[in-house]
Amino acid sequence: MLGSVTSMHDRLGRQLRDLRISVTDRCNLRCPYCMPREHFGPGFAFLPAAELLSFDEIARLADAFCASGVRKIRITGGEPLLRPRLEQLIGMLDDIPHVAELALTTNGVLLARRAQALKDAGLDRVTVSLDALDPAAFRAMSDAPLTPARVLEAIGAAIDAGLFPVKINMVVRRGINDHCVLDMAERFRDMPGVVLRFIEYMDVGTTNGWQAQDVVPAEHVLSEINARWPLQRVEPGAPGEVATRYRYTDGGGEIGVIHSVSNPFCSNCTRARLSADGRLHTCLYAAEGTDLRALVRAGASDHELAEAVAGAWQVRSDRYSAERFRRRSRPRPGTARRAPEMSYIGG
Ligand code: GTP
Ligand code: 5AD
Ligand code: SF4
Ligand code: SF4
Repeated sequence: MLGSVTSMHDRLGRQLRDLRISVTDRCNLRCPYCMPREHFGPGFAFLPAAELLSFDEIARLADAFCASGVRKIRITGGEPLLRPRLEQLIGMLDDIPHVAELALTTNGVLLARRAQALKDAGLDRVTVSLDALDPAAFRAMSDAPLTPARVLEAIGAAIDAGLFPVKINMVVRRGINDHCVLDMAERFRDMPGVVLRFIEYMDVGTTNGWQAQDVVPAEHVLSEINARWPLQRVEPGAPGEVATRYRYTDGGGEIGVIHSVSNPFCSNCTRARLSADGRLHTCLYAAEGTDLRALVRAGASDHELAEAVAGAWQVRSDRYSAERFRRRSRPRPGTARRAPEMSYIGG
């Protein structure tokens, strides 16, 4: 473990605080907004096992990130529960003293039977993706022959295991699941320890055919809910948090909206991303990543790894969503075409 800890700022004065680690680029669903089946079909070349970071490599790199100020680590994918023995990695990350919070983002399909083991290994909380309760809308959003019952069971198991707060992510797409907003709000209102978040559909990656007209702005979602159950703004929690928080004035709990398209939050972005093959991406939309795996496998010392992380963060000036918003279009089309997929870079 590296002893000294320094807070690291990028060129826009943003501190490195959060690390999102993708442990696999594979997924058992084919949500068309993330991994459209036409592109991610049987012939798609996922990363071979030898290219994935091992758990030891991930833990060493996580330590190097912590030396630059990371306090919160989120495990993502693809679908992270597809990575065998994930509990072992959770335990290794939990052993890093600087990690104040260890979270997991999952689609929930494999969570029900593992929630308690993940908690026992040291996981603090989970975020479960669930885009609809209506079976037809759920199928359209996930492109999988499953029903939401399986994900609801997983949410119940996460609650029983004490993985609080259990956050639920609903990506809202116009004409596909936007009629499900009130239904979802009603289901998770009054459920202690559960926070439902509505996410604007983002133009991430190059395969989902994103169009501005498919986005339902967070303001619409809020006004629909507010008309039924009045809402009140809640002060932001941790710095760099992506969701804007609201509570029901009748005491029915909390919701959040993630308005990265209509109201980008790049000025507070404290997140670094480590892809499953060990590249450090300083933005969800950054085409290029720093190859940390090459350094690890070439025998770099802990100090050299920490320097590589710090160096990449200090030259960072990414603000893709804010730039796109200013121009009302995708900035620099050449760059956008090479942007990595969400399933590779980890949400
Ligand atoms: P907590 O606030 O700790 O619960 O986590 P989180 O909201 O960062 O994690 P989650 O995986 O639930 O992310 C929710 C969604 O927010 C993602 O699916 C993205 O749509 C969006 N998001 C997260 N981080 C970023 C980011 O850095 N940039 C942009 N543009 N969107 C992001
Ligand atoms: N826009 C918004 N959110 C997305 N996610 C995946 N692709 C997109 C997209 N294009 C979300 C998933 C999950 C989180 C990790 O990322 O629904 O909740
Ligand atoms: Fe899989 Fe999540 Fe992407 Fe859906 S959004 S395809 S569940 S990684
Ligand atoms: Fe951060 Fe890039 Fe997202 Fe802006 S677009 S919030 S800089 S990850």
